[in-house]
Amino acid sequence: MSAPVERADAFRREPRWWRDAVVYQIYPRSYRDASGDGVGDLAGIASRLDHLVETGVDTLWVSPFYPSPMADFGYDVADYTGVDPLFGTMADFDALLEATHARGLKLILDFVPNHSSDRHPWFVESAASRTSGKRDWYLWRDAGADGGPPTNWQSQAGGSAWEWHEVTGQYYLHTFLAAQPDLNWRNPAVREAMLGEMRFWFDKGVDGFRLDVVYHCIKDAEFRDDPPNPDHDPKTDPPFASVLPTFSTDRPEIMPLVVEPMRALADACGNRLLIGEIYLPLERLVDYYGDTGEARARVADGERPSAARAGVQLPFNFSLVFADWTADALAALVRRYESLLPPDAWPNWVLGNHDQSRVVSRIGPERARLAAMLLLTLRGTPTIYQGDEIGMRDVEIPPDRVRDPWELNMPGLGEGRDPERTPMRWTDEPGAGFCPADVEPWLPLGDGGELPDVAGQLRARDSMLELHRRLLALRRAHPALALGDYTCIETCGEVLLFAREHGGERCTVALNLGEEPAEAVLPEPGGETGPTVLVSTRPGRDGERLSSSMPLALDALEGVVLDR
Ligand code: GLC
Repeated sequence: MSAPVERADAFRREPRWWRDAVVYQIYPRSYRDASGDGVGDLAGIASRLDHLVETGVDTLWVSPFYPSPMADFGYDVADYTGVDPLFGTMADFDALLEATHARGLKLILDFVPNHSSDRHPWFVESAASRTSGKRDWYLWRDAGADGGPPTNWQSQAGGSAWEWHEVTGQYYLHTFLAAQPDLNWRNPAVREAMLGEMRFWFDKGVDGFRLDVVYHCIKDAEFRDDPPNPDHDPKTDPPFASVLPTFSTDRPEIMPLVVEPMRALADACGNRLLIGEIYLPLERLVDYYGDTGEARARVADGERPSAARAGVQLPFNFSLVFADWTADALAALVRRYESLLPPDAWPNWVLGNHDQSRVVSRIGPERARLAAMLLLTLRGTPTIYQGDEIGMRDVEIPPDRVRDPWELNMPGLGEGRDPERTPMRWTDEPGAGFCPADVEPWLPLGDGGELPDVAGQLRARDSMLELHRRLLALRRAHPALALGDYTCIETCGEVLLFAREHGGERCTVALNLGEEPAEAVLPEPGGETGPTVLVSTRPGRDGERLSSSMPLALDALEGVVLDR
């Protein structure tokens, strides 16, 4: 058996396959439009699987494609077990699942537990009358003492989180848009129904879920007001930041009522992965691992009387999205995250997604190459957002093309997410290989001479895509990079240095975050002869043998991976 086949085989059967997985997020509206209506679809994804295999990723997370009025572009689900005609049919989904598995890829879906669409039959029934059998499936409350909303809770999409419902004379809660009413997870019937929706996809064979804003699912049982945020500046900060979300989110019952039952289901269905979308400080984030394998093993041995909790395998770690790109700040971040992880918990790192300004636009194209090297060499499962592998930038959206309700509700505060959601650029032709040339895509493709595209980057040497391919191939070839522990994390001036080791093999990574050339003394030089450069972010250095007696010389903003 050849090495790739062996790996694919092990990947398929290994219970903790997600530890050496590389996740790639597909935002289906913008990946590829096979039907020619200007919006991406499932058949479009299926037609571009080779790109993913050739790039070297192995686990696809597909953002929602379920029937939806599209108030939040699919994150407002009207039927958890269907396919919106805009994206295709269930047969298209089945074909996609089969095609991904045939290529040795895993497929994980997006599950939106906190809220449904206001057009979901459950909400329609709930809103029909106060005595509806499904009234308690959502969060309905009488007006507050002043006749206004029952609490001061704020919607993430702007304004109060409560919407007045004239017909039944009560408010309902929506942590996001009014078109996204929050489900009541304290109600056992809701829990049973939602787990049933997850099971539908598990039974089809999907390999896991990314759980949309899962930390929001439980709110304070007593509906207490959130405390005001003393640092809020209404001129620059979004309105939802005017309160600290103490009572409206991340409540203690979230684990027993939501996360643990989901994990129990995922485990019962056999080695399925749960990734939690959780924007919380690291100290809180790590709680969502629950008790990890070690703790559960102790229970199995009868050491602990209480039942063990199991959370999600990967609570998304978004720290790099908000990080300062200096060596000291990054070293401190990695050390702090590692020190907070519960025993046996597996780390993960994210650089971007469909809700965040693109990494190239945040930190510039050169630092984005360093960021790619960092993402793919840190300990933990990396997630790549579609288009970041070719260095796509935020696209400027003319006012008449703005689609994101967040921008429309909170104009000018930088909350709009259209710029990072523009269609994937496959070629430099009109339509960018995304949609037919004579069709207007749902968001602009961008213009201007320097826009990257897949075909162009495959022809060019030293492109962002080639860097991703080399780094991902390296990760596959060196278990030290995929699975190794850190033997050191340190800085030398502006250079971040870390080394990873697995099964007697070591790799060192050195990233010069400074704008000047730098020299770094390697932490663990070892051996008579110097190490070899496996990959550099700069052209022409791969394979260079370094001197054992000289410090490592790095160009401005250059990163290297060394073979020991
Ligand atoms: C998540 C999604 C985002 C969506 C929100 C509400 O943060 O990533 O796109 O608007 O949840 O579902």
